[in-house]
Amino acid sequence: MTTRAKIRHYLIGAACAVGALVAPTAHAAGVLRICADPDNLPFSKAEGPERGLYVELANMVARRMGDTVQYVWWLTFNEKRALRNTLLQDKCDAYFALPADPDYKAPGVQRTHAFLDMSYAIVAPAGDKINSLADLRGKRVAVLSGSAPHILLASQKGYATSSFTLNEDAMNALAKGEVDAAILWGPSAGYENLTRFHSRWRVTPVSGEGMSGRMAVAVRQGNDALAADINQALVDLRPDIMALADKYGFPRGKPVQLASVSTGSRSLHGSGGANGSADMLVQSRVIRTGFIKTADTTQPADASGAATAATGGDAAAGREFFNNTCAHCHSTDGASPIRARDLRHLHSRYKDQWREVAATTIENGRPDAGMPTWKGILSQKDIDDILSFLATIQPK
Ligand code: HEC
Repeated sequence: MTTRAKIRHYLIGAACAVGALVAPTAHAAGVLRICADPDNLPFSKAEGPERGLYVELANMVARRMGDTVQYVWWLTFNEKRALRNTLLQDKCDAYFALPADPDYKAPGVQRTHAFLDMSYAIVAPAGDKINSLADLRGKRVAVLSGSAPHILLASQKGYATSSFTLNEDAMNALAKGEVDAAILWGPSAGYENLTRFHSRWRVTPVSGEGMSGRMAVAVRQGNDALAADINQALVDLRPDIMALADKYGFPRGKPVQLASVSTGSRSLHGSGGANGSADMLVQSRVIRTGFIKTADTTQPADASGAATAATGGDAAAGREFFNNTCAHCHSTDGASPIRARDLRHLHSRYKDQWREVAATTIENGRPDAGMPTWKGILSQKDIDDILSFLATIQPK
């Protein structure tokens, strides 16, 4: 055991001796309790021959600290809930892993330095030279619905996307020749490429706003000694982390720079002028994915100047943006048959607060209910335009 580890265990031991009078805690010296997802390859898996990068890394970290590992498995598709039920209830000491980005709010949690960069990646036949976004022009590109690459491509003229909910389905469409390329979450795409497709595709990381993230280990707020120990282990294990990333097929190499999403969405608001062939591509996208029903920019009949003035946004631009980006979940013009997604009831639901509720919901999403987060993806102008459009569909 390292000196640092001994000190940490001493401190924890002392804390436990006091805490035990109030409530028994499970802090045993020499044991590092790790929370991770039982079924989330390539990151973690509770059993089987492949345990995932996080599990292998957590084992190495614990070994370096002279600890043995105990796992507490919890499904993490709802990450905030997983945190509340595990780390924050002292069911484990460290959670592998959370986005390091301070904008990713995790109350009660303290994070180590980032130990791994991840990004979306272009998946394409090895022979295709794709060095820029423009090289995807005219190709049919699979994307995950609502993802940053989806929004980027949907908001620029000349790109044809097919959207999928699952990485796996997008990779299958590529294998069947239904699309020419895909932009998917790099680690998952790389891992699938390795395990299911015998590295048939070239998987190239991309960079750009909203396209990448860094992962860190989370511990409870105030657990400074443990955070410092894990930090040091992560630094020492740097070469091993890279080797694990290779083992699981995570894409590496020089990223292809994609234009930032907000630049892309601004160009959507450019005053028309699209040429014929670009429009054809938009049309074919509409037909293939079936989720964008209108490609015209005419305003709804009841679009009132007053509504537009209220947020200073451009309702027509907002409508076009909405129908390109949000309509596959909310239906064209927000008229979803599913009540919770029908955006014509905002005013009747929230009265004078509706704009505020809508803006907050768009920014932060409702991850528990399936509404994605758009913060950092949409510009303030996009949001203002959308709010102006939403005003036009509230019954008078
Ligand atoms: C992946 C599907 C999906 C996408 C894409 C999506 N939403 Fe949503 N949205 C939902 C769901 C589901 C709800 C309902 C959440 C709930 O029941 O609390 C919702 C709720 C909302 C609400 C609050 C409705 C209310 O009555 O409380 C607003 C406003 C909204 N979405 C706007 C948007 C906008 C604008 C976009 C595009 C930028 C968008 N959504 C894209 C799934 C989506």
